[in-house]
Amino acid sequence: MSTVSSFITFTIFTIFSISCVAEAVGVNWGTMASHPLPPVKVVKLLKSNNINKVKLFDAKADVLQALSGSNIGVTVGVPNVMLRGLNSSRKAAESWVHDNVTRYVSNGGGGARIEYVAVGDEPFLKSYGEQFHPFIIGAATNIEAALNRAKLDKVKVVVPCSFDSFESSSNSSTEVHFRSDVNKTMIELLTFLNKHGSPFFVTISPFITFLQTKNISLDFSLFKGTAHPHKFSRKTYKNSFDLSYDTVITVLSKVGFPNMEIVVSKIGWPTDGAINATSYLAETFMKGLMNHLHSNLGTPLRPHQPPHETYIHSLLDEDQRSIAAGNFERHWGLFTFDGQSKYHVELGQGSKSLVNAQNVEYLSPKWCVVNNNEDLSNATAKALEACANADCTALSSGGSCFNITWPSNVSYAFNSYYQQHDQKAESCDFGGLGLITTVDPSEDRCRFPIEIHTSHAEFYRMSSFLWMIILVTTLLAS
Ligand SMILES: *[C@@H]1O[C@H](CO)[C@@H](O)[C@H](O)[C@H]1NC(C)=O
Ligand SMILES: *[C@@H]1O[C@H](CO)[C@@H](O)[C@H](O)[C@H]1NC(C)=O
Ligand SMILES: *[C@@H]1O[C@H](CO)[C@@H](O)[C@H](O)[C@H]1NC(C)=O
Ligand SMILES: *[C@@H]1O[C@H](CO)[C@@H](O)[C@H](O)[C@H]1NC(C)=O
Ligand SMILES: *[C@@H]1O[C@H](CO)[C@@H](O)[C@H](O)[C@H]1NC(C)=O
Ligand SMILES: *[C@@H]1O[C@H](CO)[C@@H](O)[C@H](O)[C@H]1NC(C)=O
Ligand SMILES: *[C@@H]1O[C@H](CO)[C@@H](O)[C@H](O)[C@H]1NC(C)=O
Ligand SMILES: *[C@@H]1O[C@H](CO)[C@@H](O)[C@H](O)[C@H]1NC(C)=O
Ligand SMILES: *[C@@H]1O[C@H](CO)[C@@H](O)[C@H](O)[C@H]1NC(C)=O
Repeated sequence: MSTVSSFITFTIFTIFSISCVAEAVGVNWGTMASHPLPPVKVVKLLKSNNINKVKLFDAKADVLQALSGSNIGVTVGVPNVMLRGLNSSRKAAESWVHDNVTRYVSNGGGGARIEYVAVGDEPFLKSYGEQFHPFIIGAATNIEAALNRAKLDKVKVVVPCSFDSFESSSNSSTEVHFRSDVNKTMIELLTFLNKHGSPFFVTISPFITFLQTKNISLDFSLFKGTAHPHKFSRKTYKNSFDLSYDTVITVLSKVGFPNMEIVVSKIGWPTDGAINATSYLAETFMKGLMNHLHSNLGTPLRPHQPPHETYIHSLLDEDQRSIAAGNFERHWGLFTFDGQSKYHVELGQGSKSLVNAQNVEYLSPKWCVVNNNEDLSNATAKALEACANADCTALSSGGSCFNITWPSNVSYAFNSYYQQHDQKAESCDFGGLGLITTVDPSEDRCRFPIEIHTSHAEFYRMSSFLWMIILVTTLLAS
C-alpha cells in the first residue's frame, strides 16, 4: 500500500515538475509579415517543438481557430489603438471579449486555452510619448469586468511593459525608478494587477541594453562566464538578464510590490539588420538563457525563483514589422519567415534542436534582378524606391547583405519588392531595369529569399484563373 501511494506521489510529483518546466517557456507569435506562414502550419511548428505557450499581439480569427484544440496556452492582445475606445466604453470591452475571447474559449470542448488578455502592447514605450497612458487602467478595468461577466475569471488581464519604463538616475546606475512620466500610471497598474492576482509582464532585452548602454559588454549580455561582473544594490551580477530582472524587482519593491509575480513577456536576440545581430550570437544567447532558466538558480534578489513564464521574442521573422527602433526588428525569429530554424537551441522541453516547418509551399524559384545590359544611372534611385515598400533591412550596416557590391544591392532591393508582390511580372519593371531570372542571385551569407504562398496569393491566382474561364466562356459564346 505504502509502495503504491509513494509510487503515486512520485508519479504526481514527476508529472507536476515536468509540467512546471514544460510550461515555463513560450514564444511571441507576431504576424506583421507580407507572407505569413499559414496559422495551421505555425501551430504544427509549435507542436513539433513542444512549445506550449504563445503570446499574440492581437486576436486574429484564423490564428485562434488554428490554436483551438491544440492545448497551447494563449495570450491574446488588444492593440494599442483600441485602448481609447475600451477605456471609454464598457460595452466596447464586452464586445471585444465576446468576439475575441469567449467565442474561441467556448468552442465546444476543443476551444482555445486562453490564459491572458494583454491590454496594449508596450503602451509605455518612450517613443510613444504619453498618448496611451490615460486609457490603460480604464481599458484593463473594463476588459477585466467583461471577462467576469462572461464567467471567464480564470483569464487574467495583463499589460506588457517595455523595459524603458525603468530608468536610473543620471549620476548613479544603482538608483533605479520608473520613468517619471509613467510613474503614476504604473503604480495604478501594479495596484490593479495585485488586486486581481495577475503577473507583471515586462520585456527584458539584453540585446537592446547592449546597444544602448556603453558599459555593458557582449560577454555580459550573452551569459558568458568570462564576463566582467557588475555591482548593483550591493549584489554582484554576472549577466545582463539578472541585472535587468533585479532592476525590475527593485523598482517594484520600492513602490510597495516586492512579491509581484513577473513574466518576461519578450526576450530574444535578432540575427540580422545590426552589428552583432547574427545567428551565431543569437544561438549563444538563447543557449545561455535556456541554461540559466533551467538551472533554477534565479537571480540574486530572487534566488531559486526563475520568472514565472518567459516568452521568447520571437517565433518567426516579420518583414513588415516597424523598424522605427532599428533594422533588426524584422529579424527576431527563432525561425525565418518560412519556419526554418536559424540555429540550434534546446528549448528544454524534450527536443534536442529546433524542428522546421513542414510542407511549406513556396512561390516559383524566380528572382527579380537588375538588368546589367541597361543604362544603370537611375538604378540606385529605383532601388531606394523599392526599399521604401519592401524589406531591405539585410542591406543595412552589419546586416547579412551589407557587403554585397553595387549593383547586386540594387538586385536585392528589386527582388524583395518582387517577392512581396507575389512575383507579379509588373512588380519587376523598375522603369525597364528589372529582369526576372531563374538563377539564384544569393551570395555567401546574403540570401535572396523566395516568398511563400499565402491565401492572399492563392486568391489572386484563383481569381485570375476564374477571369480566364469567364473570358474563354465569353469568347466561345460570342
Ligand atoms: C476613460 O474612460 C472614463 C470612463 O468612461 C472617462 O471618464 C475618461 O474621461 C476616459 N479617459 C480619457 C482620457 O478619455
Ligand atoms: C475584436 O473585437 C472587436 C470588437 O468586437 C473587433 O472590432 C475587432 O476587430 C476584433 N478583433 C481584434 C483583433 O481585435
Ligand atoms: C545624485 O543622485 C542622488 C540620488 O538620486 C541625489 O541625491 C544627488 O543630489 C545627485 N548628485 C548630483 C551631483 O546630481
Ligand atoms: C512615484 O510615485 C510614488 C508614489 O506616488 C512616489 O513615492 C515616488 O517618489 C515617485 N517616483 C518618481 C520617480 O516620480
Ligand atoms: C563599468 O563597469 C565596470 C565593470 O563592472 C565598473 O567597474 C565601472 O565602474 C563601470 N563604469 C560605470 C561608469 O558605470
Ligand atoms: C560585434 O561587433 C563588433 C563591431 O562590429 C565586432 O568588432 C565584434 O567582433 C563583434 N563580436 C562578435 C562576437 O561577433
Ligand atoms: C533617369 O531618371 C530621370 C528622371 O526621372 C529621367 O529623366 C532619365 O531619362 C532617366 N535616365 C535613364 C537612363 O533612364
Ligand atoms: C565586408 O567586406 C570587407 C572587405 O571584403 C571585410 O573586411 C569586412 O569584414 C566585411 N564585413 C562584413 C560585415 O562581412
Ligand atoms: C548600393 O550600394 C551603393 C554603393 O555602395 C550605394 O550608393 C547604394 O545606396 C546602395 N543601395 C542600397 C539600396 O542599399
